[in-house]
Amino acid sequence: MTVSIYVPRDAAAVALGADRVVAAIESEASARGLDVAIVRNGSRGMHWLEPLVEVVVGHERIAYGPVKPSDVASLFDAGLLSGADHPLCHGAAKDIPFLKQQTRLTFARCGITDPLSLDDYRRYRGLTGLEKAIAMAPEAIVTEVTDSGLRGRGGAGFPTGIKWKTVLEATGSRKYIVCNADEGDSGTFADRMIMEGDPFVLIEGMAIAGLATGATKGFIYTRSEYPHAIATMSEAIEIARREGILGPSVLGSGRAFDMEVRVGAGAYVCGEETALLNSLEGKRGIVRAKPPLPAHKGLFDCPTVINNVISLASVPVILDRGAAFYRDFGMGRSRGTIPIQIAGNVKHGGLYETAFGLSLGEIVDHIGGGTASGRPVKAVQVGGPLGAYFPRALFDTPFDYESFAAKDGLIGHAGIVVFDDTVDMLQQARFAMEFCAIESCGKCTPCRIGSTRGVEVADRIAQGIEPEKNRELLGDLCNTMKFGSLCALGGFTPYPVLSAMAHFPEDFSPAPRVEAAE
Ligand SMILES: Cc1cc2nc3c(=O)[nH]c(=O)nc-3n(C[C@H](O)[C@H](O)[C@H](O)COP(=O)(O)O)c2cc1C
Ligand code: SF4
Repeated sequence: MTVSIYVPRDAAAVALGADRVVAAIESEASARGLDVAIVRNGSRGMHWLEPLVEVVVGHERIAYGPVKPSDVASLFDAGLLSGADHPLCHGAAKDIPFLKQQTRLTFARCGITDPLSLDDYRRYRGLTGLEKAIAMAPEAIVTEVTDSGLRGRGGAGFPTGIKWKTVLEATGSRKYIVCNADEGDSGTFADRMIMEGDPFVLIEGMAIAGLATGATKGFIYTRSEYPHAIATMSEAIEIARREGILGPSVLGSGRAFDMEVRVGAGAYVCGEETALLNSLEGKRGIVRAKPPLPAHKGLFDCPTVINNVISLASVPVILDRGAAFYRDFGMGRSRGTIPIQIAGNVKHGGLYETAFGLSLGEIVDHIGGGTASGRPVKAVQVGGPLGAYFPRALFDTPFDYESFAAKDGLIGHAGIVVFDDTVDMLQQARFAMEFCAIESCGKCTPCRIGSTRGVEVADRIAQGIEPEKNRELLGDLCNTMKFGSLCALGGFTPYPVLSAMAHFPEDFSPAPRVEAAE
């Protein structure tokens, strides 16, 4: 009897040795005359357990992890193929608390299916959203997305349905759907994970966006640092084209939509939507002034929807299960689910999809399990390099757009980076300025020059040179950048700086400089 064994092909699992584990399983099975069929699935998102090996036993998938090649012989000795106990065994994968407590709508299939098997995709409700969309008028699709309450998961949280309505109502010789897969934020990997683990869901979401707005062409803009995602997405697009999901007649509807992957060189600012458009057009990645909005004049001056991967990948389930189903999850104006990415100095790092509203403390302490170092958590940065640092005192903040904004923070792309008590927050503030100086597109002065001055001021504080005056200067500089920058790179860099100053003042008061004796 052939036993199926799942080992992820996801970049995180491969980086941790998944390919070598597969080779070890194959050679061990063959040496023992056992028949195994390896399926390369996406990751379940429990990174501390990767490579996670799952063996199909009856209707269950028994999980073992993290597995090293050197563990494989002992796993076979213990009875791996019958799901036997072993120190690395976690029982049924779906019952692992980190997984069991999630609400997986967008990531429903990720880690379960073979990412490039269309049969698997259909078996787990794939394409039902697109089939429903085909039977609907474009306005009705837009209304469904608007009513679901879906907001952009790329950072700004703009209502997706309203953006689509603007493009639907705009006139142009062509319209485009651009998927922002640049994923530059620190501690984020949800876009990569879904592109590698369930690429058809993004294709389906983009096709629905095309039907809704009248766009016939889509681009996924991603970075060269994502070779696995590029390869998987490109192959999935080929399959979708072959199977008539993409092309001149989407699923036989008579309506056209096709798409391709474009790869940028990897500049943080190219995740900003107008710099991204410039880069896609083959120009330098510089931010464009708005208006005009991309929805009116975007790619090649045509009306363009630009959405994050997760925004688009959340659309199929909305069309499939209905706006009310999706809207029922969440709190306040933050509806549906959010794939939170837990990273940094944390015990259980990974992807956790849940309805909006969990407190930051629950996420960091209970789900993340505290720091990997075992030391106390001092700060967490939420929302990437432009996000604020939150101290423990703010751990009761619910994870939703408005609650974070009310505390001078943002949830951004929902990345959380955890730091223990050895972190120096003045150095983190300096790093925010340095990052901005390196990544600035250079178009406006407060960001281009201000960030470099910010590094210098932080250094003077660290050296104990007129600390009070320099702290005031850093605050002033932040205000200038906040209100004088053209885009959020310069405009939000002050958030990590000001939050570090506000919540960790002790780190900004080093001992005054002692002049060396002559
Ligand atoms: C400096 C900068 C970097 C950004 N990087 C990304 C990114 O990597 N991915 C992303 O989806 N949005 C990014 N954004 C936000 C985009 O400009 C835009 O708001 C988003 O793609 C819209 O999609 P959404 O409405 O689905 O979130 C960035 C914004 C700025 C200012
Ligand atoms: S704020 Fe910075 S990145 Fe944004 S347009 Fe100005 S110089 Fe460019």
